[in-house]
Amino acid sequence: MNNSTLLNSDWLFCENHYCDMNISNIPTVETVKIPHCSVELPMSYFSEKSLHRDFTYQRTISVTSSDLAKTQFLYFEGVMCDAKVYVNGEFAGAHSDGYTPFEVLITPLLQCGDNLITVTMSGKENPSIPPFGGQIDYLCYPGIYRDVHLRTYSSCRVFNVKAESVNVLTSPGLKLDIYLESFLKEGSAGKLEVTVCNKRGEAILEHVEEVERFYGKAVSTMQFDELKGVELWDIENPELYKVEVRFVDKHSSDTFAFRHGFREAVFTTEGFFLNGKHLKLIGANRHQSYPYIGYAMGQSGQELDADILRFEFGFNTVRTSHYPQSPYFLNRCDEIGLLVFEEIPGWQHIGDEDWQSRSVDNVKAMIQRDWNHPSIILWGVRINESDDNFDFFDKTNRQAKVLDSTRQTGGVRCHFKGDFQEDVFTLNDFILGETDDPLRKPADTHGKDYDVPYLVTEYNGHMFPTKRIDNENWQMEHVTRHLRVLNEAHSNDNISGAITWCMADYNTHKEFGSGDMVCHHGVSDAFRKPKFAAYVYASQINPSKKAVMEPVTYWTVGERCAAGVLPLIILTNCDCVEVTLENGIKGKFYPAREQYPHLPHPPVIIGTEAADQLFGKHSWGGGWKNATFTGYLEGEVVVERHFSASKIPSDLTVNVQKNQLLANCSDTARVLIETVDQSGNILPYFSDFLTLSTSDNLEVIGPKEVILEAGTTGLWVKAKGAGNAVLKIHSHKFGEREVVFDVVEQK
Ligand code: GAL
Repeated sequence: MNNSTLLNSDWLFCENHYCDMNISNIPTVETVKIPHCSVELPMSYFSEKSLHRDFTYQRTISVTSSDLAKTQFLYFEGVMCDAKVYVNGEFAGAHSDGYTPFEVLITPLLQCGDNLITVTMSGKENPSIPPFGGQIDYLCYPGIYRDVHLRTYSSCRVFNVKAESVNVLTSPGLKLDIYLESFLKEGSAGKLEVTVCNKRGEAILEHVEEVERFYGKAVSTMQFDELKGVELWDIENPELYKVEVRFVDKHSSDTFAFRHGFREAVFTTEGFFLNGKHLKLIGANRHQSYPYIGYAMGQSGQELDADILRFEFGFNTVRTSHYPQSPYFLNRCDEIGLLVFEEIPGWQHIGDEDWQSRSVDNVKAMIQRDWNHPSIILWGVRINESDDNFDFFDKTNRQAKVLDSTRQTGGVRCHFKGDFQEDVFTLNDFILGETDDPLRKPADTHGKDYDVPYLVTEYNGHMFPTKRIDNENWQMEHVTRHLRVLNEAHSNDNISGAITWCMADYNTHKEFGSGDMVCHHGVSDAFRKPKFAAYVYASQINPSKKAVMEPVTYWTVGERCAAGVLPLIILTNCDCVEVTLENGIKGKFYPAREQYPHLPHPPVIIGTEAADQLFGKHSWGGGWKNATFTGYLEGEVVVERHFSASKIPSDLTVNVQKNQLLANCSDTARVLIETVDQSGNILPYFSDFLTLSTSDNLEVIGPKEVILEAGTTGLWVKAKGAGNAVLKIHSHKFGEREVVFDVVEQK
C-alpha cells in the first residue's frame, strides 16, 4: 500500500439520499469527521426509530492529470450499512454489509480538478442484509464509522497477503500467499521482496524472487521452512514479527506490510491448546458500541477496551459478538495476547437464499480481512443462536476452510443436539437461573456418545441483569453466579473455556433490556467501569502480576436484607485476608476452596458464623465500625483497603486514560469520575450534577450536563487542534476539577 491517504476529514453530512447533487446548500448539512455516527443518541430511553433513516456523506477530492494515469480506489473500513458510492454523480460501487471493508475503483469516473465523492447509506435495517430481518439484541448504528482511505497505485499492487505459520512446535516456518494485481494492459513482471523482522528490527528472513509476467490478478505462494530464532506468540509473550512484501516492476513498486505471530491454536476434546500448552479460555463477549456515538469510536477507545479486558478484568479471550470488529481492537488483541473468537453478523434470524449468500460473503470478507491476526483462534460461521440449516452452514464452513486451513470453526447455538457442522461445539449456556446447575454437561447438549471440542460462548447475561446501582444483595448474587460458572468451566477439561455475556452494558432494541433501551448485562457499565462481578475475573490474575482484593460490599449496616454484610465475599488472589475493626477485633479468613475447588483463586468468604466474632450478636443498631481489610501473600501484606463506618463525601476523583492526545484525528481519552468517602471508597448513593466544559480544541462526546449514577459517571473527550486542552468538571458539591491534556500534532 504505497500511497494511501486517510480521507477522514471534511465530509459534509445530511439526512436522506442525494446521489447526484452537491449537498452543501442543504440547510441542515453539517461538516463532520470520520469516525462518525449519523445519529447521536441519549444514554437511555429513546426510540430506536431515530436510527432508521437514510443519510448522505459527501466530500471533494482533488485530482491532478498525473493521478488520472494511476489507479485509485476508495477504501472504506466500515459503513453501517447498505453503502453506495458515487463519483461526480455516477455510481461507482456498493457494499451492503456494515462490518466489513470494501473498496471502490474510482479512476474511470475521475476528472482533473475537484471530484465530488458521495456515499449514501441507511440505518433502516434492510431485511435483506444480515443481521436484519428478525429481532436483534443490539443496535446497528448508522454512519461511516471506520476510517476511509484513498489508495493510489501506478502499475501494480500487492492487495493482500495470507501468512500461515508452519511446523510451529518443531521448526517454525512461514507460508505466504501473496495476492498481486497488475493495472497494465501488457501485465506486470518483476520481483517480490519479502522481509520478516523481529521486534528489534533484525531480519529473520530476507528473500527475493522473480515473478513472471501476469495479467490482472495473480497469487504467488512461497514457503520458508526452519526459520532461525523464531519466538512463538502466546498470551504472556505476544511476540509479533513485521512482514513486508514488496512487488517491484519496471514502473513502480507496492508494499504490503503486516504483523505475524508464530503460534498454533487447537481446540481438542481435552480442551484448548496454545503452542501445545493447555489453556483454559476465560473470556467476555464484547459489543463494539459506546454511549452516545454507537460504533464511531476511533483507535484509542478501541484499544482501551482490549486493555481493560486483558489487564483490568483479567480475561484471556474475547468473542466479537456478533460481527467482525474494529481493526484497531484486533490489532491491540495481537499486541497484548488477548485471544479472539470472531464471528459473522447475525442474530437468530436466517433470511432467504440471497440473504444467505450475503452471509457467506461475510465469512469471506471477515477472513480475508483478518487472517493475519495471531490473536484470532476461531471463526464463528453460524448465525448466532439460529436454527439448524444444513446447506447454508455447509457453505459458510466450506468458505472458511477454503480460505483458512489453519483455524477451526465454531457456530454459536443455544439449542441442543442438531447439526454439528463445525469443529468446535460452541454453546450459549443459560441454564443457571433456569435450574441451579451452573453449566450443562457437554454430552447433554451435543448429544454425541463421544466427546467433541467444546466451548461455552455465553452465560449469565439476561438471566441476571445487574446495574451498578443495584443493591449489595443483588450484586452478591451476580458475583456468585459468575463464580459458580467459572468454577464449573474449570472443573472439566472437555470444556475449552467459558465466555461470559458480557463485557459492558449496551444499548439495544425495545424488545430487550430494562425498558431503558439498555441491556444491563455487563460485568461493567457502559463506560466500562467495573461492577463487582468484574473482580470475579480480575481476582484470577496471577498474584505475581497484581494483587487483587475486592470485598463485595459498601460496608454499611443496613444495605442488605436483614442487616449487616455477611456472608461477605472477598474476591481476591491473596492467600488470606485479615479484617480488623476499629476496636481492635480482628479475624483472618482463607479462600473458600471447598466451595470453589476448581478456581485458580477462590474468593475468601466470611460466613455468618463469623458474625459473633467480628460484629457481636446484633449488627442492626449494634454500633457499626470502621474496618481495614488486609490481603496477604506468602505472609507479606500486598494490599490494604479501609472502610469508614460513617461516610463523608470527601472527594470527586477524576481518572483519565491518558493526558496526551493526537490532534485532528478524533483521538479520544476516557475519563471516569467518582465520588468517594474519606477512605477512598465509592459513594454508591451519592447524587450530584456535573457541568462539563472544554477549551476550543477539545470536545466532550455526549451531553455537557451529566448526573452521577451509583456515585460515578464516565465520558470520552475527543481532541481537535494542537496545544494545551482543558476539561473542566463542575460539581455542585465539590466545585471544579480541571484536567489538562497535551494535544500534539501527529508525526
Ligand atoms: C443471548 C444472545 C446475546 C444476548 C444475550 C443476553 O441469547 O446471543 O446476543 O442477547 O442472550 O443474555
